[in-house]
Amino acid sequence: MHKIILDTDPGIDDAQAIAFALAHPEIELLGLTTIFGNAEIDITTNNALTILNVMRAELVPVFKGADKPLQIDRFPAPDFVHGADGLGNVKDQLLSDLSEVKAHSSQSTAAEWIVAMANESPKEITLVAIGPLTNLAEAILLDPDLPSKVKQVVVMGGVHKAKGNVSPVAEANFINDPHAADIVCRQNWPLSIIGLDVTMEIALTESRLEELRTSAGRVGEFLWHTSQYYLDFYSSLEVLAPTERACAMHDASALAYLVRPELFQFSKGSACVIESGPAMGQFILGDQSDNYFLSTWRNRPSCQIATQVDSEAVLELFSKTLSLFSY
Ligand code: RIB
Ligand code: CA
Repeated sequence: MHKIILDTDPGIDDAQAIAFALAHPEIELLGLTTIFGNAEIDITTNNALTILNVMRAELVPVFKGADKPLQIDRFPAPDFVHGADGLGNVKDQLLSDLSEVKAHSSQSTAAEWIVAMANESPKEITLVAIGPLTNLAEAILLDPDLPSKVKQVVVMGGVHKAKGNVSPVAEANFINDPHAADIVCRQNWPLSIIGLDVTMEIALTESRLEELRTSAGRVGEFLWHTSQYYLDFYSSLEVLAPTERACAMHDASALAYLVRPELFQFSKGSACVIESGPAMGQFILGDQSDNYFLSTWRNRPSCQIATQVDSEAVLELFSKTLSLFSY
């Protein structure tokens, strides 16, 4: 059983990931920590609560996290991708169908709760981060020994050989807080990065969402509605392979890796994230066998970033898992 804390900026594809985490029998979702990113922090936190309510998981605690990056100014929220409400501009319409919102957010901050949980259950908890990495970095700043106390870390973010989605070289979660991303990448903990090299290959088609609409109860219905705006955005880009409308299933792919790691292939090495300038947010993987002259590259621990994926198997896993929702 994977006991996870899911650090998230809901977000349309974050909602898909939360659904997967709740439904998969080998995942125990201990709680959500929220972060700015796809929308401002109050919106992403409210979205987390709404999603848990839709999914009848009101007992899962929610901890509000950082409202801005560690050092840079916050980029404007990408309302052209996720809508002004972060959920495809259908939240108000869907909320009118919901009973009273029962989930509530807790007093501790996201970073404080991550630290407390890791201290309570050393080496048992997996951190899965699918938004900007500020909360994880703040947790490390609070407790520099945190890396020795978590089981593993899985991050959706970054890009290795493929193109960026915010700049030629940068992916959104990494560029949103490059200092935090670099802190996370230079810790001595088992870190697996699921970036755009693979997530842009995992095309969630309109017909698969239609199937979920009928097979996954009100969760499928909710994801179908929220995903329409996201499908429009990705269709306008024409970057995904399918001939029908489809969107990149970024965030749920990190959880697919957690339960089915054999579906992914990786490159390993020491890594850094560029913190400023035109290459801000770029992820760079060094060769561990090289003893680089530049001191910042010495003694960086190893991590792995996904380079290939069996995308059809990941999508099948997603559909099969979500079909376990019976309400
Ligand atoms: O680049 C993809 C990531 O950025 C995903 O986490 C998505 O939710 C967006 O915020
Ligand atoms: Ca996200």
